[in-house]
Amino acid sequence: KGLRIADKGFLNTAVITSEITYIDGDAGVLRYRGYPIEQLAVHSNFLETSYLLIYGSLPTRSQSKLFEHEVMQHSIAHHDAESLLRAFRYDSHPMSILTSAFAGLGSMYSEANPSLQGQTLYTKGDAACLANMDKQIYRLIGKATTLAAMAYRVRQGRKFVTPPAGLSYTGSFLYQMDHLGEEEYKPSPVLEKALDVLFLLHADHELNASCTTVLQTGSSLVDPYSAIAAGCASLYGPLHGGANEAVIRMLISIGSPDNVPAFVEQVKRREKVLSGFGHRVYKTSDPRSFIVRKTADEVFKVTGKDELLETAMRLHEVAMKDEYFIKRKLAPNVDFCSGLIYRSMGFPLDFFPVLFAVPRVVGWLAHWRQMMLQPGGVKIWRPRQVYVGPSVRDYVPVDERG
Ligand code: CMC
Repeated sequence: KGLRIADKGFLNTAVITSEITYIDGDAGVLRYRGYPIEQLAVHSNFLETSYLLIYGSLPTRSQSKLFEHEVMQHSIAHHDAESLLRAFRYDSHPMSILTSAFAGLGSMYSEANPSLQGQTLYTKGDAACLANMDKQIYRLIGKATTLAAMAYRVRQGRKFVTPPAGLSYTGSFLYQMDHLGEEEYKPSPVLEKALDVLFLLHADHELNASCTTVLQTGSSLVDPYSAIAAGCASLYGPLHGGANEAVIRMLISIGSPDNVPAFVEQVKRREKVLSGFGHRVYKTSDPRSFIVRKTADEVFKVTGKDELLETAMRLHEVAMKDEYFIKRKLAPNVDFCSGLIYRSMGFPLDFFPVLFAVPRVVGWLAHWRQMMLQPGGVKIWRPRQVYVGPSVRDYVPVDERG
């Protein structure tokens, strides 16, 4: 009653207070817990930054060691998860597989389910509650790479690889993806580091569509596996985490740098979308995009330049000088270049959103934990609508309908 205007797309609705990630979209600033993303990308690593995002401060050496140990220890997949993933067809989209796999984990860990264990399981804030939360957090981060690698291999009918001991988070992931058999295999340290930087950059981005979905789902006090699965589903679309895949499809369809001006004209006539450009919050270049470009240079030294690079650079140049994009403050976002790196590293195109989802599990969990523990408890997320349908009508029997 009394609601007259709907805030379509939540342009102007804040639903929570948060201490996790700060974005200044006009200045192109991104900070995790106060630390500039540029500093973290150079001095930190993905797991240390994960700890920071979830628990609020940089870990001491022993906290860091314990966190890494717990995450890596929980990376081995439940036997039932293997059977679940084997059920997928060779041509399934890996994001469908990953989403289902996360949801399936919920059925394997009943201790994580507030419907079975009591609705205050995650909201009490006492030692038992925090320990239970930690366990689910370790499991979800640990298993994210394992499930992703399984989603990759099941489509090729290949055996799953047990996570190896002694490798970093991204090293273990590359090992599980690429390992061919008995022979000694170690991922390239340059690619392992590049993926670690990309994971760090993708770890959180405050209340984007997928994080909002996780919180919305979590606000009914469902188990965290179901909430993460919901986040995965939301991330998958081409306007969000699927944009890295969409950028490459767009570059392939453009074909060559010479065709860029004609493509840009199509975008301006709204016949095409320029994927990898634009952002709800950034009205200047996404600060992550500069770090991604530097990372691309490192990767290309190992893999060779991607053949789509020239088309991408021409597109960037033309769009940034064009009045249409200047007026609307449209600039490259994190997805504009990340796909070129993933492509040159040999990941299949439809796997790119998985490479966004895996590290984003950390951000989703940080926000989920914060919401569960917020003072005053969780308030279920239940927005209102502006009803514009018919007022009361009398039922008409089927023979009397015109
Ligand atoms: N190409 C062409 N025009 C665009 C684009 C684009 N990529 N993005 C926005 N516009 C136009 C839009 O048509 C609108 O024009 P007008 O005012 O004349 O109607 C104006 O710019 C404002 O855009 P909007 O659609 O109101 O902006 P939004 O905040 O609702 O949408 C967005 C943000 C990211 C969904 C959108 O920019 C987009 O579709 N970009 C392409 C997909 C993409 O790269 N997504 C990845 C986002 S970054 C990673 C992540 O967090 O997922």
